Amino acid sequence: MEDDWVSIGIEVNGVSHRMEVKASALLLDVLREDLGLKGTKRGCDQGQCGACTVLLDGLPVLSCILLAVQADGKKITTIEGLAGDDELHPLQEAFIAEGAAQCGFCTPGMLLSAKALLDQNPEPADEEIRQAISGNLCRCTGYAKIIRAVKKAALG
Ligand code: FES
Ligand code: FES
Repeated sequence: MEDDWVSIGIEVNGVSHRMEVKASALLLDVLREDLGLKGTKRGCDQGQCGACTVLLDGLPVLSCILLAVQADGKKITTIEGLAGDDELHPLQEAFIAEGAAQCGFCTPGMLLSAKALLDQNPEPADEEIRQAISGNLCRCTGYAKIIRAVKKAALG
């Protein structure tokens, strides 16, 4: 039933959480409101823009249309978990170097989609990068800088 409370166990950025969530709770709300991880952005709220992208067991998902209960037992990576303790992730460095983040609203989701790509395909062609980020809308950059940044990160 919609308003039942359900106990779920999720690992977020390497930290295990056992929590009670409403059966109807969206993963985006649990991440942002219950866990305070505001780096995951709420854009369209309808599965259209990619701003809310996180990784679920390494694969990109749209947290605005995924129920938190669907993440039970899974590992989640949000943008807060991308960098190391003392250094940025190579993708973050490359985005800075290439000017691929402008207003930055799409950037967390974009970076996570790119990470999922590079984890599976360390040397992607431009078209493969374009495909991997096709669900992440950016109204600022025109995508060319983003694609350059992902290539740069891939090349190390
Ligand atoms: S906020 Fe989830 S796809 Fe737009
Ligand atoms: S940098 Fe502004 S939406 Fe992508």
